[in-house]
Amino acid sequence: MNNRRILVTSALPYANGSIHLGHLVEYIQTDVWTRFQKMCGHQCIYVCADDAHGTPIMIRAQQEGITPEELIAKTKQEHEQDFADFHVNFDNFHSTHSNENRHFATSMFKTLQSNGYISTKTVTDLFDPSEKVFLPDRFVRGTCPKCKAEDQYGDNCEVCGATYTPSDLINPRSALSGVEPVKKENLHYFFKLSTLEPALKEWTQSGSLQPEIANKISEWFEDGLQDWDISRDAPYFGFEIPDAPGKYFYVWLDAPIGYMASFKNYCDRTGEDFDSFWKPNSDAELYHFIGKDIAYFHTLFWPATLMGSGWRTPTSVYCHGFLTVNGQKMSKSRGTFIKARTYLNHLQPEYLRYYFAAKLNDGVSDIDLNLEDFQQRVNSDVVGKLVNIASRCAGFIYKKFDAKLTSEFIQEGTDALNLASEKNSEIKNLYEARKYSEAMRTIMSLADIANQVIDQYKPWERIKDDANQTEVHQVCSFGLNIFRLLIGYLKPVMPELAKKSEAFLNTEICWDDLASGKPFAEGHQINKFKPLITRIEKEAVDKMIEETKQDAAPKASDPISDEITFDDFAKLDLRVARIAKATHVEGADKLLQLTLDLGEPSGGLQKNVFAGIKSAYNPADLEGKLVVMVANLAPRKMRFGLSEGMVLAASGTDSGLYIIHPDNGATPGMRVK
Ligand code: MSP
Ligand code: ZN
Repeated sequence: MNNRRILVTSALPYANGSIHLGHLVEYIQTDVWTRFQKMCGHQCIYVCADDAHGTPIMIRAQQEGITPEELIAKTKQEHEQDFADFHVNFDNFHSTHSNENRHFATSMFKTLQSNGYISTKTVTDLFDPSEKVFLPDRFVRGTCPKCKAEDQYGDNCEVCGATYTPSDLINPRSALSGVEPVKKENLHYFFKLSTLEPALKEWTQSGSLQPEIANKISEWFEDGLQDWDISRDAPYFGFEIPDAPGKYFYVWLDAPIGYMASFKNYCDRTGEDFDSFWKPNSDAELYHFIGKDIAYFHTLFWPATLMGSGWRTPTSVYCHGFLTVNGQKMSKSRGTFIKARTYLNHLQPEYLRYYFAAKLNDGVSDIDLNLEDFQQRVNSDVVGKLVNIASRCAGFIYKKFDAKLTSEFIQEGTDALNLASEKNSEIKNLYEARKYSEAMRTIMSLADIANQVIDQYKPWERIKDDANQTEVHQVCSFGLNIFRLLIGYLKPVMPELAKKSEAFLNTEICWDDLASGKPFAEGHQINKFKPLITRIEKEAVDKMIEETKQDAAPKASDPISDEITFDDFAKLDLRVARIAKATHVEGADKLLQLTLDLGEPSGGLQKNVFAGIKSAYNPADLEGKLVVMVANLAPRKMRFGLSEGMVLAASGTDSGLYIIHPDNGATPGMRVK
């Protein structure tokens, strides 16, 4: 097993949102694994990238009034800072919107095409008749054709995990206009997965996947592999398909190719050899760490893409479960949808690294961050057990023994040290197998034993008697020796704590030293002990939740629009109007029909207005109320009739709708200036 060459990836986070604690389960899990491999002396390269393509990113950029390129550049910077501050140590972090990725996506597609894996078909797509665009999957919602769960996206069901096309949905609706989409013919590119079925079956059942995932895949095979639709229509932010103007690669085609692109970027930077990692029959290992929600893409589509275009397949795909907070799905209103940055504003990154490690194993079940348990567990394990060993022993060595260790120990100490170094291979195997929680338990049980030995000899009492100096020297030297071992075992999880400890112990720890079990040499000199880590205060956790809640509250953060002149403003004829009549509009999801009086007494000027306020108001409650309207707006023909103005209302994203009323005393027809 020596001299392994290992390439490791985490899933590529979408470039339209911030990193949150759910994401960090994965990046911390992967980072611990790669640090462990490096510490063992293997060549291990950890690459990642932002997943920059697709409709949601395009829409998000539009909302922010910037280009997609600006959005993804901004997000990449933010993501990289978050990861760095959590000590997630990528060897390369790239973007799927890169030259390398364009090259691989295009060339792999061409190879797939010339190998006969690509077909085109005219399919009936859903088209939004009011917005006049083909609707991307995410913009159609409806009932899952498989499990009948309501309000699901057009590409996959979040309840049963089925994937399908938007036209399979029962009772589909456009997310843009709310109208029922109509069917329209459209040309699509498909990846004929079924051609690769035997090879895929063999790969997925070759024993390299977790049993839960392998079982799930068998179910997918039983259902039969559908051809995979890999094209999307403009407008789309992505790579255009060669020789197919207006058609783009679906984001999930080029996203995993982003793993290769990021590695290529690394190779060009460092001189590493790309082909020896990616050519078929490569002796390098390739692992993808992912969440269970994207298993389908990584265990079927991705290996198929690789097989069909002449590259190697992954050694393994490692799935983890989802993060819950206090036993529930992360929620904005409960303040548990915690962003990486919000956490960092209040707490040390290594607390979370330790807690996740203490909970993670090789399975796909969800893991819970219980905030009370988090505080209690980290304080008791890391501060109370582990660091306690050093803080109880270091002072005496430094002050009384010239900062020098002895390599002779009391018998109980020798026994405990032997036990701790014997556990080396067990802990190593647990890390390798991603059973971190067991590794943490083993390490902490050794810390318990060390503390018992120190408790038994009570150096803080013995030090008072000159006759006991040798014993105190031996007990404390034992303490710092076993501390070195335990910190070494924990180094992949808590690299900063390890670094500080190494500085104070005046050494550097690698896995081989731990295996040898050799203590520090006689007379090894340490540096002055400084507190290594502080306890988690409940106050800090509370503040983090508070900030998360505030973050989720609606903000008036829209940028102010372009300046207008006074003349522009004067063109507006704003009037007070009385709602004479308000009614529902047959077939409209958002509109109410209003009849507005602009003169007193009634019988004066009346206007008909369709207002998008149905979500917030009952027609009956509106009749008789005074509002402000734009009276000189050019009439607009709508599906339901002519709209002759607009009623002013305040609104923010998802935060309700509020009609503006004039103060008491105003009468219909008055000008508003
Ligand atoms: N862009 C895709 C991945 C493309 S990989 C070629 C994507 N991005 S994501 O930002 O939604 O998620 C990134 C990773 O974080 C995924 O593996 C996902 O499973 C994981 N997690 C996102 N939310 C999570 C939790 N709440 N809990 C645990 N992992 C979570 O999917
Ligand atoms: Zn379903």
